[in-house]
Amino acid sequence: MAFTVAIDGPAASGKGTISRAVADHFGFAHLDTGLLYRAVGRKVLDGVDPIEAAKALVAEDLQRDDLRTSKVAQAASKVAVIPEVRQALLDFQRAFAMRGGGAVLDGRDIGTVICPEAQVKLFVTASDEVRAERRYLELVARGQDVTREGVLADLQARDKRDRERDAAPMVAADDAVILDTSEMSIDEAVAKAVAVIEARMAAG
Ligand code: CDP
Repeated sequence: MAFTVAIDGPAASGKGTISRAVADHFGFAHLDTGLLYRAVGRKVLDGVDPIEAAKALVAEDLQRDDLRTSKVAQAASKVAVIPEVRQALLDFQRAFAMRGGGAVLDGRDIGTVICPEAQVKLFVTASDEVRAERRYLELVARGQDVTREGVLADLQARDKRDRERDAAPMVAADDAVILDTSEMSIDEAVAKAVAVIEARMAAG
C-alpha cells in the first residue's frame, strides 16, 4: 500500500532538508516538487512558452545544475501561478506519491491539492530572518554572489506570490502538523518529523 508524506511550507523553511532526511530514515522515495517548477522557470528564461515547457518536461530537465539560483526561483514562482502549468505537472506528482514503498513529496500544495489523502502532512515554517539566513549561507556555499537583503527580498516576494495566487495557493492543510523550525537545529526538526510519522504508522 502507498504511504505518502506531504511536506509543505514557505521558501527555505527547511522542508527540503527534512524531506530528504525523513525519506532516508524510512527508506521512502523523495520528490522535491519545487524542482519541477524551477525546471519550467529555467526554460521560460531560455525563451520557451511556460505551458509548453511544463507539458514537455522530462527527468533530465531536473538534473540541470543551474536550477538553484534566486533568478530561477523567481521564474519558478511566476510560472507556478499558471493553472495549465500546474495541471501539466499533476499526474507525475500523483503517480510518484502512489508508488509502493512510501514516498515523501515536498512543495506548497502537496497536502492540499496533490495528495489530500496523504497519511502524514507537515507544514514547515520559520521566521523570515531565519529562512533568509539559511538560504543566504546555502547560496554562498554554492559560490553564488548574493546579499542577505537580496535573499530576504527574494523569499518574501515568492511567498507573497505563492500565498496570494488563485491556483493551489500555499496554505497549511487543515489536518497538517505545523513545525516551526525557527529555534530548532536540523536534527531536532528531523526528529520531530520522524516522531509524527512513527505515531501515524503505529496508529495504522
Ligand atoms: O527551495 P524553496 O523553498 O526556496 O523553493 P522550491 O520549493 O524550489 O519552489 C520554487 C517555487 O516553485 C516556489 O516559490 C513556488 O512558486 C513553486 N512551487 C509551487 O508552486 N508548488 C510546489 N508544489 C512547489 C514549488
